[in-house]
Amino acid sequence: MTTIPQPRTGEAPGAWPVLGHAWQLHSRPLEFLSELPRYGDLVKIGMGPTPTYVVCQAEAAHRMLTDSRTFDKGGPFFDKARTLFGSSLPMAGWREHRWQRRQMQPAFQPDRIDAYAKVMGEEIDRLTSRWRPGLRQDMAAALTRLTLRIVTRSVLAIEADDEAVADVQECLHIVIDGIYQRAMLPLGPYYRLPTRGNRRYWRACERLHRAIDGIIADRRAHPGGEDLVAMLLQAHDDDTGEPMTDVDVRDQLMVMIGAGFETTANTLSFALWLISQHADVAARVHAEVDATLGGRTATPADLGGLTYTRQVLHEVMRMYPAGWFFTRVTTTETTLAGHTLPAGTPLLYSAYLLHHQPELFPDPERFDPDRWAGKGTEGMPRGAHVPFGGGNRKCIGDQFALVEMTLVLATMCARWKLVPDPGATLNVKVRGTLGTGPLHLTCEPRGGGRGGGVTTAKAAPEPDGS
Ligand code: HEM
Repeated sequence: MTTIPQPRTGEAPGAWPVLGHAWQLHSRPLEFLSELPRYGDLVKIGMGPTPTYVVCQAEAAHRMLTDSRTFDKGGPFFDKARTLFGSSLPMAGWREHRWQRRQMQPAFQPDRIDAYAKVMGEEIDRLTSRWRPGLRQDMAAALTRLTLRIVTRSVLAIEADDEAVADVQECLHIVIDGIYQRAMLPLGPYYRLPTRGNRRYWRACERLHRAIDGIIADRRAHPGGEDLVAMLLQAHDDDTGEPMTDVDVRDQLMVMIGAGFETTANTLSFALWLISQHADVAARVHAEVDATLGGRTATPADLGGLTYTRQVLHEVMRMYPAGWFFTRVTTTETTLAGHTLPAGTPLLYSAYLLHHQPELFPDPERFDPDRWAGKGTEGMPRGAHVPFGGGNRKCIGDQFALVEMTLVLATMCARWKLVPDPGATLNVKVRGTLGTGPLHLTCEPRGGGRGGGVTTAKAAPEPDGS
């Protein structure tokens, strides 16, 4: 007789008065989340005084992600993020989201991504042409600048100089970290005090708003184009015929920049680190890029020849998913993993937690790109592998990100071997996104490829002098 496994619901031990588990989640987030499946498939924790349910079972995560009407956006993190990103795409409620997504989806169709790939190639060349044998640099910072330039130039069609990019990058870091801290450590009135940190956060928000407002004013004065900004400026409400306000457009652009650079930069940093630590993987990546590219810049036409490089990226996103946790809230009473949840219940799902379950991914701490050979996720329980989320709130930039990361990783590996300092270790930095923190790598020319970089015209030095 087959036994049907019973859903398990439990409560995490160790809640503090008032803060609940907020301190654990703040101080040791990945360890804390990884312990939760032992208490059940749906585990109650306290995010401050608010009880929140963490989804620890793949099938339940799938149900939550695909029934976006019952499990709508909301919960502690999004309530904080809304103060900055308004009711933009990831923040919008179910009904509003459908309309917004229809307006923005055309900017992410395959033909648009092919066009963006041209910008990606130019930016990759711009960066790698500055590299010289023996150059040691913080690769995480270099990748962050690269991906920020790519997303602003391609999706938003904004040309910005290095100084403006560095300014936006700094503001975004402060703002994303600020939102994260406000969500994880709900200290209420403290965040209204004029402390140094709070003033820094407010100033960064203001600077970002001013920068984006300037872009919108400029585009209103010079209409036209087929990019996302033009799409947003032309969008009209189905019922009222009203256009989007400047504030609505600003929120959408802020979110697109915010979601579209740190995520890809962090994934690429982890990829370079993991490749540097696994000689067998490095050898296979190098063999593939040598055969496919022979030292030139990768283009979308090369993607078919870069299957192992993509496997590496899939495995990196399994081990270190940049978007490591998100929240939802129930809009009506419902059941999940056998548990009845009243309307208004906050839920949290974490790709990191799901991706590190040994029942789903045997030996989960092992970096093994061959997990993705051939059939990929086929045969895997639904909801097990969710680096881009799922359902109709799935990342709108997933294909953009996959193409970008493959082209960047392949081109860099075709030209250089990137070597960490002797004895260096990985310090996973857990904030709004999962990152490597500073990652110092030294450029060593590759024997087989065109090590030494492309010989293009002299490029201006990066803002940090690298
Ligand atoms: C490795 C790169 C990336 C990862 C891991 C990632 C991950 C995610 C995840 C997990 C979600 C769903 C959040 C949820 O369930 O609440 C999401 C949504 C979103 N992402 Fe990404 N993302 C990446 C790159 C990008 C890029 C390049 C862009 C834009 C150019 C972007 C824009 C967005 C937007 C606008 C949403 C909200 C979608 C909606 O609610 O309809 N992301 N992303």
